[in-house]
Amino acid sequence: MLETRLRPLASCSFSVLTRARGLASSSTPSSQLRVAGGTYRQDAFTNVTNAIIQKAETSLLSKPSHPLSILNSLIHSHFPDYKAITPSSPVVSVFKNFDELGFPPDHPGRRHTDSYYVNKEQLLRTHASAHQIESFQTDAKKWLLTADVYRRDEIDASHYPVFHQMDGARVFDKSPSELRALEEENEVMAHRLAQENILIEDESSIGPQNPYQQAHDPAQAALVAANLKHTLNGLMLKLFGGAAGATKENPLRVRWIDAYFPFTSPSYEVEVFFRGKWLEILGCGVVNQAILDRAGVKERISWAFGLGLERIAMVLFSIPDIRLFWSQDPRFLSQFTPGVISTFKEFSKFPSNWKDVSFWISRDVHENDVCDIVREAAGDLAEDVKEIDRFVHPQTSKTSLCYRIHYRSMERSLSNAEISAIQDRLEGMLVSELGVEIR
Ligand code: PHE
Repeated sequence: MLETRLRPLASCSFSVLTRARGLASSSTPSSQLRVAGGTYRQDAFTNVTNAIIQKAETSLLSKPSHPLSILNSLIHSHFPDYKAITPSSPVVSVFKNFDELGFPPDHPGRRHTDSYYVNKEQLLRTHASAHQIESFQTDAKKWLLTADVYRRDEIDASHYPVFHQMDGARVFDKSPSELRALEEENEVMAHRLAQENILIEDESSIGPQNPYQQAHDPAQAALVAANLKHTLNGLMLKLFGGAAGATKENPLRVRWIDAYFPFTSPSYEVEVFFRGKWLEILGCGVVNQAILDRAGVKERISWAFGLGLERIAMVLFSIPDIRLFWSQDPRFLSQFTPGVISTFKEFSKFPSNWKDVSFWISRDVHENDVCDIVREAAGDLAEDVKEIDRFVHPQTSKTSLCYRIHYRSMERSLSNAEISAIQDRLEGMLVSELGVEIR
């Protein structure tokens, strides 16, 4: 997955957060979970929380003036002849999310600390690519698919446990006539891009690190990869060219570098130079033939890409905090107009409050476990969470952790009483869920 997480892990155990807390309702037996309209069995592996289940019920993309939906529509309008595929539930099998796409058994994304499991066999999809095989099965030769995706993570202005990805693909018949047409199309596209205000810096290279596949004729794979590059360069120009004020003298800079994904080869990452920084925009590549074979379209070859809508929308609309996408405040939503990329005008910030919580632990505690409990106790009122101290008592050898929680609402002032009540709830949950001892 694009966002590789290399943070040190305090623990990889799955002994904590073993069930959706407080979910048992009169209509659902406590061994069952309701998620996005479906009923699922809970087991010792369940770690999806109520806060997350609620998010799975909210569709941000159905609001036409929401910045995510403006961006989504803009990309669709750039690719008018691509079929829009809407995946059903965010709950998918572990097999479909990981195994079928070639993720190794020890891939970090599979960890209980990194993903939301509904039970041992099913989880909230961690990427839109979980639907790749079924999308190839639709027989559409060009498709786009947008999905809400879920990853356990830290709490700060750019991480949220739910975000949106769009995957897209184009499929070709390996027939001489189709490949000849592709060659011609590539020439036209390359010629057109050469007239535009874009500077393409291609630092990728085919080699043992990033090979064409055994199953492919290298000349055919090269045509498909070139088409992928031309297509996505055009998209980058559409999304960023205007906002970056690209001109002949000062063109939009787009950089291609080698990447690795278990389901594409060669694989690439695309970066765009925007407001003085290189931004990682998307991952893509030539789809592994095994995936097309599995989808029942052996005689075809395809490229695919996947991008994160929040990350792009945050830079294009100048949205400073990822929580704003979930805000119900009219001062947020009323600022945007369908079809238009506009600059968000920050409304006055409400006061911040910081509270620390210190506790002794008797077993390893992963930061993502603490963060999920903060999300349960505080919802979106927690702006960020940081471990600020960790020490081992010299006599007892017990470990103490201290976390600092920054509380601030996007929408209103918080009272001291309200924050204290949240903090009390948080302490109670840390004790009951993680077995810690509050200091
Ligand atoms: N699914 C990948 C991610 O999570 C992106 C990707 C999609 C890469 C399709 C290649 C092809 O980042």
